[in-house]
Amino acid sequence: MLHYQNRINSFLSKQIEASSNENSRLKQSMQYSLLSGGKRIRPLLVYATAESLKINLDTADYIAAAIEMIHAYSLIHDDLPAMDNDDLRRGKATNHIKFDEATAILAGDALQSLAYETLANTPADAPNVVAMIAKLAQLSGIVGMAGGQSLDLMAENKNIGMADLQKIHAAKTGALLQACVQLTTELKNNLADDCKIKYHLFAEHLGVAFQIVDDILDVTQDTETLGKPANSDTKNKKATYPSLLGLQNAKDQADHHINKAYHLLENIEFNTDMLKQLTALILQRNH
Ligand code: IPE
Ligand code: IPE
Ligand code: MG
Ligand code: MG
Ligand code: MG
Repeated sequence: MLHYQNRINSFLSKQIEASSNENSRLKQSMQYSLLSGGKRIRPLLVYATAESLKINLDTADYIAAAIEMIHAYSLIHDDLPAMDNDDLRRGKATNHIKFDEATAILAGDALQSLAYETLANTPADAPNVVAMIAKLAQLSGIVGMAGGQSLDLMAENKNIGMADLQKIHAAKTGALLQACVQLTTELKNNLADDCKIKYHLFAEHLGVAFQIVDDILDVTQDTETLGKPANSDTKNKKATYPSLLGLQNAKDQADHHINKAYHLLENIEFNTDMLKQLTALILQRNH
């Protein structure tokens, strides 16, 4: 996985460097959050899907980078005082602490724009590129990540049910993980519909499992291991799997979704080894 992480890190540095000739405060703020480490799970998921479908990695780079830029923007905004109000991310001061709130908001905005600029430059057939742009817009917007973040904030201090919680997780986190798989399958012309559906269902289960694990880590790991404040969800009275179901049931739910994801991969006729490795990693991680 290290090879792919290095690959996306160097691609992201080049893209952000080329985004503007001036070394402005805004550019420094964007670089600070985009190039500050991170597990790069979303790019890994793009590369794993590309490896499975034998799609050129030089093309996959653009998809991986665009989604990681949307992810970086979502984290900068997620940490703002108006949202989760956290001061630590990846072991460093959050963007609004290091710079200021206005710069952090604008860095998020500009990273979102750069994501679409990057995606539009994907070396692929124009109809496929347009389809990918539309998909990413849908999955990161009102019915995807941003919509999910809004529901997450509205659920603070409330007793919501499991169906609503699953909807929040599928949108705020699942949607971008789905984007990784869905945009990449978009590039595979003539992929049979039933096979495409298996990849997409796999991503749905992986996405929900990913956020359940994040909720579990929030209450089981320390701040140093996480690189972000432990018990942030408790502080904000968030609706989470552990808060609704208790820790053990939350772990069982994570296992359930991971097993479903794994089972779907077993039934895909292409090589899914890297996707399987990544699925295991998402459950076993400690931060
Ligand atoms: C954190 O995502 C935000 C969630 C959607 C849970 P990651 O755990 O992928 O964060 P980084 O990119 O590795 O820091
Ligand atoms: C964030 O969920 C999901 C996003 C879309 C950014 P969290 O608020 O739980 O993410 P962390 O724990 O701060 O990384
Ligand atoms: Mg949040
Ligand atoms: Mg948060
Ligand atoms: Mg969290």
